Amino acid sequence: MLIKPIHQKIFKKAKPFLRTRKNLIHTRIALHYALNLLQSEKGDEDVVIPAVLLHDVGWKTIPANLHLTAFGPNPSNPKLARAHEVEGAKIAGAILKDLQYPSEKIKEICRIIRGHDTRKRPISRNDRIVKDADKLWRYSRKGMAIDLDRFRVPRTNYLNFLGKIINEWFLTPTAREMAKREMTSRRREKELGRLKPKEIRHFKIHSIE
Ligand SMILES: [Fe+2]
Repeated sequence: MLIKPIHQKIFKKAKPFLRTRKNLIHTRIALHYALNLLQSEKGDEDVVIPAVLLHDVGWKTIPANLHLTAFGPNPSNPKLARAHEVEGAKIAGAILKDLQYPSEKIKEICRIIRGHDTRKRPISRNDRIVKDADKLWRYSRKGMAIDLDRFRVPRTNYLNFLGKIINEWFLTPTAREMAKREMTSRRREKELGRLKPKEIRHFKIHSIE
């Protein structure tokens, strides 16, 4: 993955904290979207990339058996979602300080992390990109498979829900377009999932034409 050596060092230090709640794969996918968003949306990669890499490190401080009470369709314990933001910002600050990262960047990165789920209004252009990259995960093939399994909701309902909230949910036009493209792929996969192998070949040939 093409990120600066300093960002690679940050990721290395974040990894032990990301080994819970499938956060390592989640972070890799969010990083992929953030890098793509930075191609079209204005933002500072030295804030966006560390914020994406570190935004979920706080989950490590929450017992794994309580994670599903803190997020998802019906969270019964939203205080834990807040706790993962606050603890995550502390861990992120310590990692960045340890790497002698510029202090003004640390300040913005930690502010972004402290409200990455609960604060709906972005504090900066960088925050908009981080929030959008985080949400785009849900539209990725892997992210959707993981969320369907953990939330135990029917695929059709989930696809409809994700399709409906794109315009109000995403903060940048580029992320909206990316989410719509991903939705098209997920719907197509759903169709393919229903077909027998012979029909899949037929479907593929005709949908390309
Ligand atoms: Fe996240």
